[in-house]
Amino acid sequence: MKLITTIAELRARLSDKHAIAFVPTMGNLHEGHLKLMRLAREHGSCVVASIFVNPLQFGPIEDFDKYPRTLEADCARLQGLADVVFAPSVSEMYPAQQTVFVEPPPIANELCGASRPGHFRGMATVVLKLLNIVQPHVALFGKKYYQQLHIIRQMVMQMNLPVRILGGETVRAADGLALSSRNQYLSAEERGKAVFMYQTLQGAQQAILQGERDFERLEKLAVEALRARGWAVDYVAVRNQSDLQPAGPVQGNPAQHELVILAAARLGNTRLLDNVEVCLAG
Ligand code: PAF
Repeated sequence: MKLITTIAELRARLSDKHAIAFVPTMGNLHEGHLKLMRLAREHGSCVVASIFVNPLQFGPIEDFDKYPRTLEADCARLQGLADVVFAPSVSEMYPAQQTVFVEPPPIANELCGASRPGHFRGMATVVLKLLNIVQPHVALFGKKYYQQLHIIRQMVMQMNLPVRILGGETVRAADGLALSSRNQYLSAEERGKAVFMYQTLQGAQQAILQGERDFERLEKLAVEALRARGWAVDYVAVRNQSDLQPAGPVQGNPAQHELVILAAARLGNTRLLDNVEVCLAG
């Protein structure tokens, strides 16, 4: 495995590679990332991971400074999984002030975008830059950040980028908590409570599978349940998988049978995300 920090060296290294599978990350790797790396190996003969904490996607009072940077440990975990690790500095990625941005689709202002203005613009901009730098034929992202994956798919489709986007299933701890680099911010007490978000989503999933179709009521109940346990809730939303628009009456259209319930909420100072898909029999 080769660690590379400059774009010029990376381009030289990849110039003769034809089947590149790429996993962009912000580092502090956990089993969720490693599972994506293994999936990447199934889709490419050269597997590239990037590790870059992108300042453009953090708001002024967010955790950019305290975001865990663990390059050495990350490289150790990537041994045998990645062929190349690209870990550029901020000045390598942004040698001058970035004045050209990807304007993400309107959905970027909802859900997580509602409480993180500019986040998806910064995320989409760095992902476009990384895709242009690495030029993979497939790029992989976790389904845990469902809205991010949706926006990346839209960018790739609408901008005709020659790359296939694959989503990897969320990896969970034994109690069901979705793995996330931010879980380590949780105190021991908060960690004990953190799985309640997934349990709440599973409860809503079961209710839909058992015939509940008043999605607004379900969302409200889930928000109340989380608040009652001390969570500060950003949203719980039942949406269509295909476009992330609010789920409407489930009728003949097969797209309306594939729903996803998404949530974001804070436990203490830690903002956690999760989602569950619901597929209704057509
Ligand atoms: O999901 C992440 O880790 C980041 O948002 C990404 C896609 C690597 C862009 O910085």
